[in-house]
Amino acid sequence: MSVEFDRYAAEYPHLLEDPVRDLFASDALFFHRRKWMLIQNFFTRQNVDCSRLNWLDVGCGQGDLLRLAGANFAQAVGCDPSSEMIQSWGSARVFQQPSAAELPFVDNSFDFVTAVCVYHHVHGEDRARLTRSIRRILRPGGVFCMIEHNPWNPVTQMIVKRCPVDSDAELLTASRAARLAGAMDLKTV
Ligand SMILES: C[S@@+](CC[C@H](N)C(=O)[O-])C[C@H]1O[C@@H](n2cnc3c(N)ncnc32)[C@H](O)[C@@H]1O
Repeated sequence: MSVEFDRYAAEYPHLLEDPVRDLFASDALFFHRRKWMLIQNFFTRQNVDCSRLNWLDVGCGQGDLLRLAGANFAQAVGCDPSSEMIQSWGSARVFQQPSAAELPFVDNSFDFVTAVCVYHHVHGEDRARLTRSIRRILRPGGVFCMIEHNPWNPVTQMIVKRCPVDSDAELLTASRAARLAGAMDLKTV
C-alpha cells in the first residue's frame, strides 16, 4: 500500500522545521512533552493509574510519543498505515495498518487510544470509519484522546500552510472532533 507519509519518512524531522514553530519549541521533543503532560494531567484528575492501562497510539508515525511515555503504561503499542514511517524506527511494538480505517487488533483490546496530529490527514468518510475502528478496539469505558492543531490560531494556520507534510491537511475544529467521537458513542472531555 502506498500512502502519503511514505514519501516524507526519510526527511520527516527536517520537514517539520519552521522558524516560527522553532520559536516555541526548545528542542524536537518539546511538543511531545507538552502532549504527554496533558495526558498525565487528565489521568491524574480522573484518579487513574496509567501503569494499569494498555495504550495504542494510532498514527504513531516515527514513535516519538510512545518512546517518551510508553514506559508509564502496562503496554504501549503503535500503528500507522505508512510502512516507511514505522520502519524508520523499527520497533517490535508497532504494526502497519492495512488501510486508512482498519486497525490490526481484536475488539476491546485497549484501555487508552491516542491519535495525535492524525485526523487532519484523514479525509472524507475515512474519518468516521477510523473512529468506528477505534471504538471497536477500545474496551468499554476506555478513553480516546484526539490531539489536533487549533484551526482558529492564525500562527498555526501559517505554519500548517507552509509545512510540506501538511499539504493535504484539513484541520478540524474541536466541535467537529466531538461530533465524530459522539457519533460513535465515545465520551469527550
Ligand atoms: C503528522 S504525523 C504525526 C505522527 C505522530 N502521531 C506524532 O505526533 O509524531 C501524521 C501521521 O498520521 C498517519 N496517518 C495518516 N492517515 C492515517 C490514518 N488513516 N490512520 C492512522 N494514521 C494515519 C501518517 O502516516 C503519519 O505517520
